[in-house]
Order: sequence, then structure tokens, then C-alpha cells
Amino acid sequence: MKNSIITGASRGIGKAITEELALSGYNVALISRNNHHPSELVRTLDELKEKIKNNNYDYKPLCIGFECDISDKFRVKEVFSKIYDKFGSIDVLVNNAGINSRRSLNVDNIPKWFENLDDNLSGFDEEINVNLRGSFICSYIAAGYMLRNKRGSIVNISSVKGIESTTSLGYGASKAGMIKLTRDFAKALGAYGIRVNCVAPGFINCGMTSELSDEKKTEYKKKIPSKRFGDVEEVAKVVRFLASDNASYINGECINVNGGYLMI
Ligand SMILES: NC(=O)c1ccc[n+]([C@@H]2O[C@H](COP(=O)([O-])OP(=O)(O)OC[C@H]3O[C@@H](n4cnc5c(N)ncnc54)[C@H](OP(=O)(O)O)[C@@H]3O)[C@@H](O)[C@H]2O)c1
Repeated sequence: MKNSIITGASRGIGKAITEELALSGYNVALISRNNHHPSELVRTLDELKEKIKNNNYDYKPLCIGFECDISDKFRVKEVFSKIYDKFGSIDVLVNNAGINSRRSLNVDNIPKWFENLDDNLSGFDEEINVNLRGSFICSYIAAGYMLRNKRGSIVNISSVKGIESTTSLGYGASKAGMIKLTRDFAKALGAYGIRVNCVAPGFINCGMTSELSDEKKTEYKKKIPSKRFGDVEEVAKVVRFLASDNASYINGECINVNGGYLMI
């Protein structure tokens, strides 16, 4: 049985990835900041355990959860070490945790341009700190354990916004940075049996898109060749493929899961 860590596993895409991996035989360690009351992480863990109990397969994966801010290197080190001790190896890491501060360049308000710098910069800093720096910390620490076994697979969750232009500059830059990190880690670790790949979802029915107005959703759907938003399971299945040995010769790639949105 292989062992996996999924960051941002308490809801949305991360929750679907966790279920997909657990129900295909991986032990799963769920990570989130867990700053919701009642605890989303605990609820997700309980739901998952129930699903595992009710499935008919002969394997029963272990599910454990940790409260951990991925931008805190000391906490990530501590938590990953506990997971390694519990599972005996770390075979798969999915860097899914992410935030969108919803700061947007507002060029309509030129008189307030300088005044708005601090607000924009704080959003930019948060997004780079969690999405990009946090993924770096998790990849670096997980790779330390993967290198011991000369085996592993890391999957980063970027975004269509890391490819197309966006007014959410920190979010876009952090997600573009994740695609670059994917390639550079892949190049450094490839000789040691560790693959690093990326998935760039488009508009997915969950968390980050739920805040869009119905009008905006309709507008976006018109631009998507598949004429709909994706479901979390449609991202999770691609992650499962990339994590597995079925993708053994895919390394440093970024797969778009966006219903054809970026097609030229
Ligand atoms: N939804 C979309 O349409 C879409 C499209 C493209 C890309 N993506 C990417 O897919 C990923 C998941 O998106 P989603 O819509 O499922 O997001 P979501 O519903 O907002 O969930 C985000 C998850 O990340 C966790 N998280 C946030 N900051 C964290 C931190 N510092 N440390 C640890 N965990 C943290 C959250 O848990 P806590 O709140 O407990 O910390 C939560 O579990 C993100 O990276 C996002 O950028 C989403």
C-alpha cells in the first residue's frame, strides 16, 4: 500500500483528491489549517472513514488528519515527520492547499492608486506565501523522505490563472510559479525516481468559484468549449493518474483540466 499526503484536504478539490486516493488504496494524511468551527477537517475525516468502512474492497486505508499551515516550515517538518513515522514512507504528495485573496488591480480608480498599494501588496504577499512558498516547503520536506526510498510522486495544483492573464496578480503569479517549480523540482529529482507534475484546473464547481455571481458564471461558461464548469472528481481522477505508476514516464508536465477553455 502506498502512502500519500494531501494539503488543503478538508474541502473542495482537496477533499475529492483525498477520497479518490483513499478509495483506490492509498493511505491518506489530510492537511489543512483547520481554522473553521466546527472542524471541517474532522468532519471530512469522519465522512471518509465511513465511506471506507462501507466499501467492498479488501483493503482498508488509514486516514489521519493534521492541523498545519503549509507556510510554516517548522510545523510542516514536524507533521511530515509524524506521518513518515506512522506510515513508514511518503510516496505521494499533492500540493493542493491554496488561497485567493480576491485582490484585483483596479485601474478605474487612478486617484487611489498609491493609497491602494499596501492593500494590494498584502494580498500578493499572502498568495505567494501560501500557494508558492508553502508548496515549496512541502515539496522540499516530502522529497527528503522520498529520496530515502528513491521513489515518489508530487502533484501540484496550479490553475488556469497561472497561464492566462488575470487581474489577481498575486494569485496568478503564485500559480504560474507552481508550474515552474514543477519543472525545476522534476529536473532535480528525476534521477532519484521522483516525478513531479502539475494539474491546472479551469473553473471547477466548488470553493473558489462559489463566490462568483450567477451572471459571471454564465459569462465564463460561454467561453468554455464544454459549456460547463468541471466537477471536483474530474480533477481528482487526473491527480490520481499522475500520482500512480500509470504515469511512470510523465515528468515535469502540466495537464490542463478546463473543458478546453485555453484552446486556441
Ligand atoms: N475551485 C476552482 O475553480 C479552482 C480552479 C483552479 C485552481 N484551483 C486550485 O485548487 C486548489 C483547491 O481549490 P478549492 O476551490 O478546493 O479551494 P477551497 O475550497 O478554498 O479549499 C482550500 C483548501 O486549502 C486549505 N488551506 C488554505 N490555506 C492553507 C494553509 N496555509 N495551510 C494549509 N491548508 C490551507 C483550506 O483549509 P483551511 O481553510 O482549513 O486552511 C482548504 O482545505 C487551490 O490551490 C486552488 O488555487 C481551484
